[in-house]
Amino acid sequence: MKRTAIKAAKEAGKILLRYYSKSVNARSKGDTYNLVTAADIASDQEIIRIIKARYPSHSLLTEESGEKINRSDYCWIIDPLDGTNNFYHKFPMFCVSIALYKNGTPLIGVVFDPLKKELFYAEKNRGAYLNSKKIEVSNANKLNKSLLALGFYYERGTLMRKSLDQMKKFFYENVHGIRRTGSAALDLCYTACGRIDGYWELKLNPWDYAAGSLIVMEAGGKVTDTRGEKYNLMMKNIVASNRKLHKEMIKVLGE
Ligand code: IPD
Ligand code: CA
Ligand code: CA
Repeated sequence: MKRTAIKAAKEAGKILLRYYSKSVNARSKGDTYNLVTAADIASDQEIIRIIKARYPSHSLLTEESGEKINRSDYCWIIDPLDGTNNFYHKFPMFCVSIALYKNGTPLIGVVFDPLKKELFYAEKNRGAYLNSKKIEVSNANKLNKSLLALGFYYERGTLMRKSLDQMKKFFYENVHGIRRTGSAALDLCYTACGRIDGYWELKLNPWDYAAGSLIVMEAGGKVTDTRGEKYNLMMKNIVASNRKLHKEMIKVLGE
Protein backbone atom coordinates (compact mmCIF):
# COMPACT_ATOMS: atom_id res chain seq x y z
CA MET A 1 0.00 0.00 0.00
CA LYS A 2 2.91 2.33 0.77
CA ARG A 3 4.30 1.62 -2.68
CA THR A 4 0.99 2.55 -4.31
CA ALA A 5 0.80 5.79 -2.30
CA ILE A 6 4.34 6.75 -3.32
CA LYS A 7 3.78 5.86 -6.94
CA ALA A 8 0.57 7.91 -7.06
CA ALA A 9 2.26 10.90 -5.39
CA LYS A 10 5.19 10.81 -7.82
CA GLU A 11 3.01 10.45 -10.92
CA ALA A 12 0.80 13.29 -9.71
CA GLY A 13 3.94 15.34 -9.07
CA LYS A 14 4.99 14.90 -12.69
CA ILE A 15 1.61 16.20 -13.82
CA LEU A 16 1.93 19.24 -11.56
CA LEU A 17 5.36 20.05 -12.97
CA ARG A 18 4.03 19.88 -16.51
CA TYR A 19 1.35 22.45 -15.69
CA TYR A 20 3.73 24.54 -13.59
CA SER A 21 5.90 25.30 -16.60
CA LYS A 22 2.93 26.82 -18.45
CA SER A 23 0.56 29.52 -17.36
CA VAL A 24 -2.59 28.05 -15.82
CA ASN A 25 -6.01 29.55 -15.42
CA ALA A 26 -7.64 29.42 -12.04
CA ARG A 27 -11.26 29.68 -11.04
CA SER A 28 -12.55 30.45 -7.61
CA LYS A 29 -14.30 27.71 -5.66
CA GLY A 30 -16.72 29.99 -3.91
CA ASP A 31 -14.59 31.56 -1.23
CA THR A 32 -12.95 34.26 -3.35
CA TYR A 33 -9.36 33.19 -2.69
CA ASN A 34 -9.87 29.43 -2.82
CA LEU A 35 -8.61 28.65 -6.31
CA VAL A 36 -8.70 25.53 -8.42
CA THR A 37 -6.72 24.93 -11.61
CA ALA A 38 -6.62 22.28 -14.30
CA ALA A 39 -3.54 20.92 -12.51
CA ASP A 40 -5.56 20.20 -9.33
CA ILE A 41 -8.09 18.24 -11.38
CA ALA A 42 -5.57 16.33 -13.51
CA SER A 43 -3.53 15.36 -10.45
CA ASP A 44 -6.69 14.27 -8.60
CA GLN A 45 -7.74 12.04 -11.49
CA GLU A 46 -4.32 10.42 -11.85
CA ILE A 47 -4.12 9.59 -8.14
CA ILE A 48 -7.62 8.11 -8.15
CA ARG A 49 -6.79 6.07 -11.25
CA ILE A 50 -3.66 4.56 -9.67
CA ILE A 51 -5.28 3.78 -6.33
CA LYS A 52 -8.47 2.38 -7.84
CA ALA A 53 -6.53 0.10 -10.18
CA ARG A 54 -4.82 -1.52 -7.19
CA TYR A 55 -7.48 -1.23 -4.46
CA PRO A 56 -10.89 -0.98 -6.16
CA SER A 57 -12.81 -1.76 -2.96
CA HIS A 58 -11.28 1.01 -0.83
CA SER A 59 -13.06 4.30 -0.05
CA LEU A 60 -11.67 7.62 -1.23
CA LEU A 61 -11.92 11.19 -0.04
CA THR A 62 -10.27 13.72 -2.33
CA GLU A 63 -10.44 17.49 -2.33
CA GLU A 64 -11.52 17.74 -5.94
CA SER A 65 -13.78 14.67 -6.35
CA GLY A 66 -15.31 14.43 -2.88
CA GLU A 67 -16.15 11.15 -1.20
CA LYS A 68 -16.46 7.73 -2.78
CA ILE A 69 -17.52 5.55 0.09
CA ASN A 70 -17.31 1.78 -0.34
CA ARG A 71 -17.91 -0.87 2.29
CA SER A 72 -14.24 -0.99 3.27
CA ASP A 73 -12.27 -0.32 6.43
CA TYR A 74 -9.72 1.53 4.32
CA CYS A 75 -10.03 5.12 3.15
CA TRP A 76 -7.54 7.12 1.08
CA ILE A 77 -7.51 10.84 1.84
CA ILE A 78 -6.02 12.94 -0.92
CA ASP A 79 -5.04 16.52 -1.61
CA PRO A 80 -3.88 16.44 -5.25
CA LEU A 81 -2.28 19.88 -5.01
CA ASP A 82 -1.71 21.47 -1.64
CA GLY A 83 -0.65 25.07 -2.15
CA THR A 84 -2.77 25.95 -5.18
CA ASN A 85 -2.41 29.66 -4.54
CA ASN A 86 1.39 29.32 -4.58
CA PHE A 87 1.19 27.15 -7.68
CA TYR A 88 -0.95 29.65 -9.54
CA HIS A 89 1.40 32.54 -8.68
CA LYS A 90 4.50 30.43 -9.44
CA PHE A 91 5.67 30.63 -5.85
CA PRO A 92 7.69 27.41 -5.58
CA MET A 93 6.01 25.76 -2.60
CA PHE A 94 3.38 23.09 -3.18
CA CYS A 95 2.97 19.34 -2.94
CA VAL A 96 0.80 16.26 -3.32
CA SER A 97 -0.58 14.70 -0.14
CA ILE A 98 -1.89 11.13 0.12
CA ALA A 99 -2.90 9.26 3.27
CA LEU A 100 -4.38 5.89 3.99
CA TYR A 101 -6.57 5.43 7.08
CA LYS A 102 -8.12 2.28 8.49
CA ASN A 103 -11.27 2.95 10.50
CA GLY A 104 -10.05 6.45 11.30
CA THR A 105 -6.50 5.40 12.24
CA PRO A 106 -3.66 6.69 10.05
CA LEU A 107 -1.60 3.90 8.46
CA ILE A 108 0.35 5.67 5.73
CA GLY A 109 1.18 9.29 4.94
CA VAL A 110 3.00 10.46 1.81
CA VAL A 111 3.75 14.08 0.89
CA PHE A 112 5.69 14.82 -2.28
CA ASP A 113 7.20 18.16 -3.24
CA PRO A 114 7.96 17.69 -6.94
CA LEU A 115 10.03 20.86 -7.34
CA LYS A 116 12.47 20.03 -4.57
CA LYS A 117 12.13 16.29 -5.19
CA GLU A 118 11.40 15.80 -1.52
CA LEU A 119 9.38 12.74 -0.62
CA PHE A 120 8.19 12.66 2.98
CA TYR A 121 6.51 9.49 4.17
CA ALA A 122 5.55 7.59 7.27
CA GLU A 123 3.98 4.30 8.17
CA LYS A 124 2.30 3.75 11.52
CA ASN A 125 4.87 2.56 14.09
CA ARG A 126 7.67 2.55 11.52
CA GLY A 127 9.00 6.09 11.72
CA ALA A 128 9.05 8.99 9.29
CA TYR A 129 11.38 9.53 6.36
CA LEU A 130 12.52 12.17 3.91
CA ASN A 131 13.90 10.59 0.74
CA SER A 132 14.69 7.35 2.63
CA LYS A 133 16.45 9.14 5.50
CA LYS A 134 14.83 8.90 8.92
CA ILE A 135 13.61 12.26 10.22
CA GLU A 136 12.92 13.58 13.70
CA VAL A 137 11.35 16.67 15.15
CA SER A 138 13.54 19.44 16.59
CA ASN A 139 14.73 19.82 20.15
CA ALA A 140 13.62 23.41 20.81
CA ASN A 141 12.13 23.48 24.27
CA LYS A 142 11.10 27.12 24.61
CA LEU A 143 9.05 29.36 22.37
CA ASN A 144 11.81 31.95 22.48
CA LYS A 145 14.08 29.44 20.73
CA SER A 146 11.60 28.45 18.07
CA LEU A 147 10.64 29.08 14.47
CA LEU A 148 6.91 28.60 13.92
CA ALA A 149 4.59 28.45 10.93
CA LEU A 150 0.92 29.22 10.55
CA GLY A 151 -1.66 29.06 7.83
CA PHE A 152 -4.65 31.23 7.06
CA TYR A 153 -7.89 29.93 5.72
CA TYR A 154 -9.44 31.84 2.80
CA GLU A 155 -11.92 33.69 5.02
CA ARG A 156 -11.02 37.32 5.74
CA GLY A 157 -13.29 38.03 8.72
CA THR A 158 -13.43 36.75 12.30
CA LEU A 159 -11.21 33.78 11.60
CA MET A 160 -8.51 35.89 10.00
CA ARG A 161 -8.57 38.33 12.93
CA LYS A 162 -8.28 35.45 15.36
CA SER A 163 -5.26 33.99 13.52
CA LEU A 164 -3.61 37.41 13.44
CA ASP A 165 -4.20 37.88 17.18
CA GLN A 166 -2.68 34.49 17.86
CA MET A 167 0.28 35.36 15.68
CA LYS A 168 0.80 38.57 17.63
CA LYS A 169 0.76 36.64 20.92
CA PHE A 170 3.49 34.32 19.66
CA PHE A 171 5.62 37.30 18.67
CA TYR A 172 5.16 38.64 22.22
CA GLU A 173 6.70 35.35 23.39
CA ASN A 174 9.79 36.29 21.35
CA VAL A 175 9.72 33.44 18.85
CA HIS A 176 12.54 33.66 16.33
CA GLY A 177 10.02 34.03 13.51
CA ILE A 178 6.71 32.91 12.04
CA ARG A 179 6.47 31.62 8.48
CA ARG A 180 3.48 31.23 6.19
CA THR A 181 4.45 28.70 3.52
CA GLY A 182 1.05 28.35 1.84
CA SER A 183 0.98 24.56 2.08
CA ALA A 184 -0.39 22.93 5.21
CA ALA A 185 0.99 19.52 4.25
CA LEU A 186 4.50 20.97 3.92
CA ASP A 187 4.12 22.91 7.18
CA LEU A 188 3.51 19.56 8.85
CA CYS A 189 6.41 17.84 7.09
CA TYR A 190 8.72 20.72 7.97
CA THR A 191 7.67 20.29 11.59
CA ALA A 192 8.43 16.58 11.27
CA CYS A 193 11.98 17.13 10.03
CA GLY A 194 12.81 20.00 12.37
CA ARG A 195 12.88 22.86 9.85
CA ILE A 196 10.23 24.44 12.01
CA ASP A 197 9.38 23.68 15.62
CA GLY A 198 5.62 24.13 15.57
CA TYR A 199 2.69 25.00 13.32
CA TRP A 200 -0.94 25.90 13.78
CA GLU A 201 -3.89 26.72 11.57
CA LEU A 202 -7.60 27.29 12.01
CA LYS A 203 -10.15 25.61 9.75
CA LEU A 204 -8.33 22.95 7.79
CA ASN A 205 -9.90 20.06 5.90
CA PRO A 206 -8.86 16.42 6.46
CA TRP A 207 -7.05 16.23 3.11
CA ASP A 208 -4.78 19.09 4.20
CA TYR A 209 -3.46 17.26 7.25
CA ALA A 210 -4.28 13.53 6.99
CA ALA A 211 -0.84 12.55 5.65
CA GLY A 212 1.32 15.26 7.24
CA SER A 213 -0.02 14.57 10.73
CA LEU A 214 1.08 10.94 10.65
CA ILE A 215 4.49 12.09 9.42
CA VAL A 216 4.77 14.48 12.41
CA MET A 217 3.65 11.82 14.90
CA GLU A 218 6.02 9.21 13.50
CA ALA A 219 8.87 11.74 13.67
CA GLY A 220 8.25 12.06 17.42
CA GLY A 221 6.04 15.14 17.32
CA LYS A 222 2.53 15.79 18.56
CA VAL A 223 -0.65 16.81 16.73
CA THR A 224 -3.87 17.86 18.44
CA ASP A 225 -6.61 20.39 17.93
CA THR A 226 -5.96 23.91 19.15
CA ARG A 227 -7.51 23.10 22.55
CA GLY A 228 -5.21 20.14 23.02
CA GLU A 229 -7.91 17.56 22.20
CA LYS A 230 -6.79 14.26 20.74
CA TYR A 231 -6.00 14.05 17.04
CA ASN A 232 -8.87 13.00 14.76
CA LEU A 233 -10.10 13.56 11.22
CA MET A 234 -13.04 15.72 12.25
CA MET A 235 -10.96 18.45 13.82
CA LYS A 236 -10.59 21.71 11.96
CA ASN A 237 -8.12 23.66 14.06
CA ILE A 238 -4.73 22.06 14.32
CA VAL A 239 -1.50 22.40 16.29
CA ALA A 240 1.55 20.33 15.44
CA SER A 241 4.79 20.59 17.33
CA ASN A 242 8.01 18.89 18.29
CA ARG A 243 6.06 17.81 21.44
CA LYS A 244 8.28 19.89 23.76
CA LEU A 245 6.52 23.11 22.74
CA HIS A 246 3.02 21.72 22.59
CA LYS A 247 1.73 22.81 25.99
CA GLU A 248 3.18 26.29 25.62
CA MET A 249 1.65 26.64 22.15
CA ILE A 250 -1.81 25.58 23.33
CA LYS A 251 -1.57 28.05 26.20
CA VAL A 252 -0.64 30.95 23.91
CA LEU A 253 -3.39 30.08 21.42
CA GLY A 254 -5.81 30.43 24.33
CA GLU A 255 -8.79 28.73 22.69
C1 IPD B 1 -4.48 25.31 1.43
C2 IPD B 1 -3.05 25.31 1.89
C3 IPD B 1 -2.78 26.51 2.77
C4 IPD B 1 -3.71 26.58 3.93
C5 IPD B 1 -5.15 26.55 3.46
C6 IPD B 1 -5.40 25.30 2.62
P1 IPD B 1 -5.05 24.22 -0.96
O1 IPD B 1 -4.76 24.15 0.64
O2 IPD B 1 -2.74 24.15 2.61
O3 IPD B 1 -1.47 26.49 3.30
O4 IPD B 1 -3.46 27.74 4.65
O5 IPD B 1 -5.98 26.53 4.58
O6 IPD B 1 -6.73 25.28 2.18
O7 IPD B 1 -6.34 24.96 -1.13
O8 IPD B 1 -3.90 24.88 -1.58
O9 IPD B 1 -5.16 22.77 -1.27
CA1 CA C 1 -4.95 21.76 0.83
CA1 CA D 1 -5.71 21.28 -2.79
